[in-house]
Amino acid sequence: MGLVPEETIETVRLRSDIVNVISRYVQLQKKGKNYLGSCPFHDERTPSFTVTPEKQIFHCFGCNVGGDVFKFLMLKDNLSFFEALKALAEQAGVALPSLDSPAAQERDTRRDKLRQVNNLAKEFFLNNLQHHEAAAAARQYLHGRGLTAEVLERFQIGFALPGWNSLLEHLVKKGCQQQEIADAGLIIQAETGRYYDRFRNRVMFPIWDAAGRVVGFGGRVLDDTLPKYLNSPETAFFSKGRTLYGLHQARQSIREKGCIIVVEGYMDVITSHQYGIANTVASLGTALTVEHGRVLMNYSRNVIFAYDADAAGVAATIRGLDILQELGCEVSVVSIPDGKDPDDFLRKHGAGPWEALIGQASTLIEYKLQHAVKLGNVKTVTEKLEVMRQVFPSLAAKGGVEREVSLNKIARALSLSWETVAGELKKYEKSLNKKRLAPDKSTVNKNHAIFKEDKCDPREKSEAMLLRLVLDDPALGKTILAEMGEIPFKNDNYQRIFEKCLELYNKPGYRPEGMLNILDNNDQNLVSRLLTQDLPGKNAAKIMKSYIESVHRGIRQGRRDEILEEIRVLEKTGDHLHYNELLRELAILKSIDAAEKAGDRDRTAALLHKYSEYINAANVGQPGERRDDI
Ligand code: CTP
Ligand code: MN
Repeated sequence: MGLVPEETIETVRLRSDIVNVISRYVQLQKKGKNYLGSCPFHDERTPSFTVTPEKQIFHCFGCNVGGDVFKFLMLKDNLSFFEALKALAEQAGVALPSLDSPAAQERDTRRDKLRQVNNLAKEFFLNNLQHHEAAAAARQYLHGRGLTAEVLERFQIGFALPGWNSLLEHLVKKGCQQQEIADAGLIIQAETGRYYDRFRNRVMFPIWDAAGRVVGFGGRVLDDTLPKYLNSPETAFFSKGRTLYGLHQARQSIREKGCIIVVEGYMDVITSHQYGIANTVASLGTALTVEHGRVLMNYSRNVIFAYDADAAGVAATIRGLDILQELGCEVSVVSIPDGKDPDDFLRKHGAGPWEALIGQASTLIEYKLQHAVKLGNVKTVTEKLEVMRQVFPSLAAKGGVEREVSLNKIARALSLSWETVAGELKKYEKSLNKKRLAPDKSTVNKNHAIFKEDKCDPREKSEAMLLRLVLDDPALGKTILAEMGEIPFKNDNYQRIFEKCLELYNKPGYRPEGMLNILDNNDQNLVSRLLTQDLPGKNAAKIMKSYIESVHRGIRQGRRDEILEEIRVLEKTGDHLHYNELLRELAILKSIDAAEKAGDRDRTAALLHKYSEYINAANVGQPGERRDDI
């Protein structure tokens, strides 16, 4: 970084509305001048994730993370600053100078090349299926499975010819290097050193990434030969553990319907789309991974599993459910009757019954209970406790009616009394609370609320508000310096940010949120928190004055405690000179306090003046030989 001109970064920032960008990941609701949603960075029940369009910043009052649109993408998509800048620049149509390291540039070019190779292969397979005479059986097969021309087109389904190197020859003719084709996973080197096509005599399903680029293929045999499916190997940009088949085609429907249906296979996705249930994606036979979960969450938190009903399917489902639940998704499960998969069910019964089935999807708790009870080993107390242990993690997150209903269900399923189950749940939750404090409990969910830690220390709270004021208008910094000395902030972080703010202020085009660019991660969190909070009024000068006063009051209170402590020591050692001096200072401090409490402004001001003279005089002399002249 550092090499991209500041103006370019600003242009990208200006053209990338933070609300738009974050809305792609988080459901936001307008609340006053802010937007509120569930934080994508921690698991929470009450939304405390705040986006402030006016300043183009976000802050979560639950996990205390915040910053600008770049920081959001960096955290959410695990990008470097430059990668986030690049992504936003691309979307905003801003050209960035090519500043990648030569190695990164080479990697990018290579990826582009491999995508091109994949794309050419996709076109080749597609053309084969539509026109090649060797594809007659494949056309017959797909027709037999009831796929329409329209859905074949939408999923760009193709055919790999039976020969050993038809794809290789085709791609070489198109100008691809043998090594590139091998890197894309489309050809394999034999022991003789010669290359041959990986996919032969198979129906080909191109696999896209979410951005709509072909990253790999799945190929199915036309008969019962094994393996039934052959997939592209893991490449630089294809990994089964991260890819969700059909996501590219499902995106819009997911947004419209507000939920995602996750199935196991290619055919389940394609048939669902053909029947108009387009918010369906597949995890391609693998168990759902955390990476899958993160990708899903970017689109919707409402996830419905419709895995095959066989035993392997059930185990995989439960693993996937737990992963998603931990990530903070609402998960439910469809049980498909008589050992079918979604493709079979849709073909046999149609879209209506399928949607009805989805509407009746079980919650995680119900599903786990059904499964446990179906296995039949829940007779002894130990077995029942074991089932509860499996089910409680899903229940502990719920409140109110849902909890009540679930407790009933558990009691019924395990033939226990409601009270027994409720008692066990309490015990379980107690053990949880000991382990960790739920992040939500410490969440202060109002914009004007100062964070808990500030509440403990009034001085810190005042300092936070002073810094907040300075961020908005650094000109106020002068007054603060004049009235509070060179180091106005006791909190080192605030002091550091204060200094940086005054520095930046001298540059043209100062905006408070611009501070975020020059701060480290921790300070960004602090500043976004401050900027998200509302000021308690409109008159900045007046507010500032009252906070400065309150800091001074805090300092004086601290000094009084100190003096009392010192006096106690001196009473033992008998240092009278010093002792009298301390008493005098204490007397002034007490009279200031009294005048303030009485609301006598003139007298307060006069006493404050007297006190500052006293302090100055005392500081001029050496300790122990203070002048006794007031
Ligand atoms: N799968 C795979 N390799 C295999 C078998 C399965 O990659 N040898 C993946 C595929 O993505 C497949 C999914 O697991 O779509 C589910 O497998 P399965 O239920 O056996 O296949 P279906 O999708 O039902 O395929 P079909 O209806 O064509 O038999
Ligand atoms: Mn199937």
